[in-house]
Amino acid sequence: MDREALESGARRILLGNLRQGRADWNGKEYAFVCPALRSYPFQWFWDSCFHSMALIHLDKELAKAELATLLSAALPSGFIPHMIFWELEKRDDFLSHNLVGRTSPYYSSTMQPPIIAYAVERVYQATGDEGFLRNAVPTLKAYYRWLRENRDPDDDGLIAILQPEESGIDCSPKYDDALHLEELTNQGFIRELKKLYQAYEPIRGDDRRILQADLFNVEDVLVNSIYVFGLRSLVRLMASVGEDGSEFAKEADRSRDALISKCWDEEAGAFFDLSGVAERPVKVITISSLMPLILEDLPGELVRRLVEGLLTSPDHFWLPYPLPSVSASEPKFMPGNPRGFIWRGPTWMNTNWFLSHALRRHGYHELADHIVGASHRLIESGGFREYYNPYNGEPYGARDFGWSTIVLDM
Ligand code: GLC
Repeated sequence: MDREALESGARRILLGNLRQGRADWNGKEYAFVCPALRSYPFQWFWDSCFHSMALIHLDKELAKAELATLLSAALPSGFIPHMIFWELEKRDDFLSHNLVGRTSPYYSSTMQPPIIAYAVERVYQATGDEGFLRNAVPTLKAYYRWLRENRDPDDDGLIAILQPEESGIDCSPKYDDALHLEELTNQGFIRELKKLYQAYEPIRGDDRRILQADLFNVEDVLVNSIYVFGLRSLVRLMASVGEDGSEFAKEADRSRDALISKCWDEEAGAFFDLSGVAERPVKVITISSLMPLILEDLPGELVRRLVEGLLTSPDHFWLPYPLPSVSASEPKFMPGNPRGFIWRGPTWMNTNWFLSHALRRHGYHELADHIVGASHRLIESGGFREYYNPYNGEPYGARDFGWSTIVLDM
């Protein structure tokens, strides 16, 4: 597939999934790309960030609108929801399970990986639009402050998630124990989530108390790597508008140090999440174990061990279509698609985007090229789908899936 064909395929999806209008419930205008028209008809936080970085290559005005819409959903507290139901009439029963402390019928009260400052930085670099930047910075500052103040009750520099969907890698086997998941199916997963939400009901809206209740409290490596990555962008954006971002630079360093000192497992040569107030390491090797690679200043020795020991090992992540969402050596690795039980083996474009760029930053250009080449082939043979079999490239999940167009930015 040449660049032109790839761009026209991506344009068809991004424009086809574009939703525009004025919301009845808050009077605000919106313009965003939904992940998939049928299965995901709303605005999702990290999807929108990926869409905006694909749109940079196709339509810069829409790239700005995508992020401006997401930023406009910020609450006075600074929080930005993981799902926003701009078009209420489309709200479907399948979403009724997402009730975690929900304080509004218009958006979820959960978060998603905080990549937004990086997306704003990329869109600003692509457009040079000072007005866009100046509008975004105060909202971003409030958002990252909200995360620090509400999601790090033990004040160790690592933010915590209170249910698995907050990491964006929903059903990853690394959450099975914390969720007490016994029936390994999507239905089993939803059942356990519902129980969790019921238990949260009396303290809904108070995330610090929810985390301290210790029913699900995971200091997640993927989320914290993206947190540090986002904070670093925020510091640069603040410098661009003449503000001092040292408050956030300090926080980024503190979180990076905590990731290394608390989540790195020297013996396994991998990063592991910490579960519960007691911070038990969750020794399951998933795509998350590699995510600290996105940090430019990860110590060289850790970079080398992750790349040589895991990423390029055929026992773990170096499969015909890398990078699988779970290491192939894990007993729970499922390369196929067992009825929407997602993030348990297949390869996704957004994590390939993160890690191919990360490899380049650390000087591994050939490995990055290999991942990009395999990603192109997946799209060429299977279309822009939600995820793919890492052995044979078989496509699965939603069709015309928004963030798979991020391949344009690889
Ligand atoms: C699934 C994914 C999540 C994504 C959402 C919309 O829930 O796990 O990361 O944001 O779909 O695409």
